[in-house]
Amino acid sequence: AAPQTGNPALTPTTTPLTLLRRIGTTDPTSLDDYRAHGGYTALRRAFALGPAGVIREVTDAGLVGRGGAAFPTGRKWQATAAQPDHPHYLVCNADESEPGTFKDRVLMEGDPYALVEAMTIAAYATGAHQGHLYLRGEYPRALARLTHAVRQARTRGLLGDDVLGQGYAFDIEIRRGAGAYICGEETALFNSIEGHRGEPRSKPPFPVEKGLFGKPTVENNVETLVNVLPILTMGAEAYAAIGTPASTGPKLFCVSGTVARPGVYELPFGATLGELLALAGVRGDLRAVLLGGAAGGFVRPDELDIPLTFEGTREAGTTLGSGVVMAFDDTVPLPRLLLRIAEFFRDESCGQCVPCRVGTVRQEEALHRIVDRTGADAAPDIALLREVGRAMRDASICGLGQTAWNAVESAIDRLGAYR
Ligand code: NAI
Ligand code: SF4
Repeated sequence: AAPQTGNPALTPTTTPLTLLRRIGTTDPTSLDDYRAHGGYTALRRAFALGPAGVIREVTDAGLVGRGGAAFPTGRKWQATAAQPDHPHYLVCNADESEPGTFKDRVLMEGDPYALVEAMTIAAYATGAHQGHLYLRGEYPRALARLTHAVRQARTRGLLGDDVLGQGYAFDIEIRRGAGAYICGEETALFNSIEGHRGEPRSKPPFPVEKGLFGKPTVENNVETLVNVLPILTMGAEAYAAIGTPASTGPKLFCVSGTVARPGVYELPFGATLGELLALAGVRGDLRAVLLGGAAGGFVRPDELDIPLTFEGTREAGTTLGSGVVMAFDDTVPLPRLLLRIAEFFRDESCGQCVPCRVGTVRQEEALHRIVDRTGADAAPDIALLREVGRAMRDASICGLGQTAWNAVESAIDRLGAYR
């Protein structure tokens, strides 16, 4: 069965769907059905535009990365395409592991050919002939659908030595992760593919220069790649008209927690947090919303007018991240929740650098003391948490350590936790 999107945007009263339009309406195991629903028109347009033309469209569309960091995709593609060193590689980051994130899963299970087509376009634009799809190990249905889609595309001349008879060679290898959150960090992911420990490398050099096997590499998230299809079919200008000038296009949001209709929602950037939560139907007395996942931060129920854009969340002192929206009512014990987040980071730290290896342990210990000594003065431990949090943010090698204190900090400062 097709995955449930739980998406009330399927009703005619809201914006038409772009990224989710084939989910639940197209057979994800049939290449013919994919083509009957507009599949492979974007790749044909890509071949007509040529690599530089594709990069121009993606740049003009204003597409930025949907994995969480919002780096301009056109800039990344241009930088890789310009590298004199060869071969170039394309890596699709499908190791979706941020707690509360499940949008890429819906795309891969429900519209796998779209990802195969989008990867082909990205590789063509950046001069790569080999693509690696690094898939979260806990997504068996996505693995089955993508494996089938890649095989069928090969059989039908849409992958292989002569894609669409255009004399361009490209193929995709699927690699499964083994459950480590850190392997979603792009350079740890490269190490994992290469057969090394999944530990992040220092950046720079950025992957566009030295990535997989030390070669120029474009690494993009699943949702980022899938956005390239509407950019090419509707044109950069029409795409950029969706959303806001600084956050263009449609966005997938993963709504969970104390809501009546959890699921993946597609909305144009610019809708407010409150509008999204109204679609999902908040249950109970809303106490807090976690935006951007464990690496993100909490906001209060009186902040629901925050626009869901990169600039709007930044201005509000929070982050959109990968599109996590987790609602909590007043039955959820906040201190326990924070402890759970701290345990998660301690568990998932690769241990390579001291601030994160030690800091995540100290953070968890301090939160334990606060939870265990209910009623006692939490101020000394809160001061320690701030000091440890600053050290992790300033001195950790990668995003895991740099963001491990975000949620706890926002709970203390915005929600008044432990007061
Ligand atoms: P980053 O800001 O270091 O890099 C973002 C991308 O831009 C990378 O591909 C990087 O190589 C590229 N880049 C940055 N500066 C560049 C330059 N000067 N030249 C060329 N390329 C450049 O962020 P990072 O660490 O890759 O990702 C952090 C984000 O990942 C966080 O926002 C977090 O929310 C998100 N995340 C998402 C998860 C998920 O499951 N979707 C899991 C964990 C974290
Ligand atoms: Fe590993 Fe944490 Fe350092 Fe990242 S910040 S390299 S996860 S120890």
